[in-house]
Amino acid sequence: MSAPHPLSVWARNVSPSPTLAIDAKAKAMLAAGEDVCSFAAGEPDFDTPQFIKDAAIAALQGGKTKYAPTPGIEPLRQAIADRYAAEYGYKVASSQVVVSPGGKYSCYLAILATCNPGDEVIVPAPYWVSYPEMVKLSGATPKFVLCDDRAGFKLTPALLGAAITPKTKLVILNSPSNPTGAVYTRAELAALAGVCVRHNLYVLADEMYEHLIYDGNEPVNFAMLGAEVEKRTITVAGFSKTYSMTGWRLGTLVAPAPIAKACAELQSQMSSNATTFAQYGALAALQEKGRAVAALAGMKAAFDRRRKHLHAELNRIPGITCLLAGGAFYLFPNISSFGVKDVDFCAQLLEREKVAAVPGSAFGAEGYLRLSYATSDEMMRKGLERLARFCAGLRK
Ligand SMILES: Cc1ncc(COP(=O)(O)O)c(C=O)c1O
Repeated sequence: MSAPHPLSVWARNVSPSPTLAIDAKAKAMLAAGEDVCSFAAGEPDFDTPQFIKDAAIAALQGGKTKYAPTPGIEPLRQAIADRYAAEYGYKVASSQVVVSPGGKYSCYLAILATCNPGDEVIVPAPYWVSYPEMVKLSGATPKFVLCDDRAGFKLTPALLGAAITPKTKLVILNSPSNPTGAVYTRAELAALAGVCVRHNLYVLADEMYEHLIYDGNEPVNFAMLGAEVEKRTITVAGFSKTYSMTGWRLGTLVAPAPIAKACAELQSQMSSNATTFAQYGALAALQEKGRAVAALAGMKAAFDRRRKHLHAELNRIPGITCLLAGGAFYLFPNISSFGVKDVDFCAQLLEREKVAAVPGSAFGAEGYLRLSYATSDEMMRKGLERLARFCAGLRK
């Protein structure tokens, strides 16, 4: 008998998510009774607001347990269309909205709907870990553009222009950013939009953290930067981060009608619909605005307080420099002065001090750490103390 065939190139080439792996390791150590401080989580540490849970429970009890229409239940698609109109003046029909099993899946649909094998996709680094893998799974090639802390972790029109080739099809923009927390201004996005339109490029605008922006700054909806921009933009967002609904697996996508239709058709063959009763919970989040705003304000205030605290404390540790990020719930300190590879830094930090952090190289930027402040004050205090001790040891 001959040996079974090797697995496919897709299976062999995909890198499993390093952030999920480190988070899972930290959770396993905690479950084994170890005193771990984790800065690795990519999810809010709050529970889903009760009124959202109640709506899903009522839907479940009311028999919403069957397949739903592929692109989502109509009232939810309409509510999503309404919120884009209300928040940004972005007027879309409900047929331009697709509800998917997670923002991650929405991104993948957007890439599959627009990219052919051989196309190039511009991915500014530091990037969210899943973009390169999704691009590769579509047969296209990611083209990375490093935007380090000297650039505020942001792509510029000059850097973008230099990366464009005749094969470039799509640009991925993520503001606020995971992993850096960087928030682009309207002017910065408008300048990038101009380049994208000039070169006829699609844009995947990942606005997953749009409601977690601090210092009184307003989120910018990329599609609304002009009629030609709107024609080329696929907006991804969702419920995971805004409403602390990561486990519900619900994402959204808004796009020009032909792209939205293609995404729905791809979804019809790959996952059917997002979980039916979960969609009723999301509907409550959008319809019961007063309760949603109150819940979000509480979470956002806590994140903002921790953001400032973590930023100040990190910059007090000799050898670390850290920009104050304007959004999401991450900081991305520079640890290159220690002369240790970030992967080794994180491995030793976990082993010696039981502090979990994700190395910058997982996001395409060596010499940094991603620290999530979606963690309790007590955990942060203890974790910072240990990190400072670890860094002092490295400098000896
Ligand atoms: C930038 C970004 N986009 C999309 C997602 C996907 O979110 P989800 O699939 O949990 O809805 C995440 C989650 O970590 C993210 O950080």
